[in-house]
Amino acid sequence: MDRREFIKVSGAGMLTLFLSGCGVSMLGGGDNRAAGAAPAAGVSKSQGGKGMKIVVVTGSPHKAGTSALLADKFIEGAQAAGHEVFRFNAAFEDIHPCLGCDACGMNGPCVQKDAIENKLIQKLVDCDMIVLVTPLYYYGMSAQLKTIVDRFYSRTGRIAGKKSLLMATAYNSADWTMSALVDHYDTLVRYMNWKDMGKVLAIGCGSRSLIEQSKFPDQAYQLGKSL
Ligand SMILES: Cc1cc2nc3c(=O)[nH]c(=O)nc-3n(C[C@H](O)[C@H](O)[C@H](O)COP(=O)(O)O)c2cc1C
Repeated sequence: MDRREFIKVSGAGMLTLFLSGCGVSMLGGGDNRAAGAAPAAGVSKSQGGKGMKIVVVTGSPHKAGTSALLADKFIEGAQAAGHEVFRFNAAFEDIHPCLGCDACGMNGPCVQKDAIENKLIQKLVDCDMIVLVTPLYYYGMSAQLKTIVDRFYSRTGRIAGKKSLLMATAYNSADWTMSALVDHYDTLVRYMNWKDMGKVLAIGCGSRSLIEQSKFPDQAYQLGKSL
């Protein structure tokens, strides 16, 4: 798929959003079928609610870091509410960036047989909700998480239409600390026709002790529990 076609897919998503608000995605079932995406896709098997399948993707190289704590707490809450959670810690898996080869035609499989293809991608296709968790790196998501997001490319239509959530931690505490990350996430939500279910933006949390004293772990737990 060349750039022009990718823009066409993007256009289809935007048009769908414009026409249908946050309803059923046509990313996989509409105009982009010609561009190689899955037919009748974009809607997870279950429509969400209780007993959802949730995929949590973390992006920090710190196993017991600040964003890992948010993931832990969110999962605790979500499981207490009866949801099924699959966690994928990108920094500790064999993952590789998208090659841009377009062998997938935006509808898989990927030529790279790594942990994204072998362990994660089908979970993303089958789930009801995707939770992105990252430390703030130069005002965006970490490269580990971005690697996963870029690899959505092989199943774009089938990962569309999910619920989603963003959780992030940062050292700085200025009110604009998370602005660029949130803009990126919101744009992703719009393009993927996801339904944003909330954000935990833990500013001023550059270390484990700082976040443990903050309100954010409880926010993450309550968000998980409220789903
Ligand atoms: C490469 C790198 C880039 C960072 N960039 C930012 C930044 O732009 N803004 C910020 O507030 N903190 C930044 N930080 C601090 C981390 O976001 C912060 O320490 C966070 O709590 C780390 O999360 P973790 O423990 O889950 O890895 C950066 C840290 C690293 C290692």
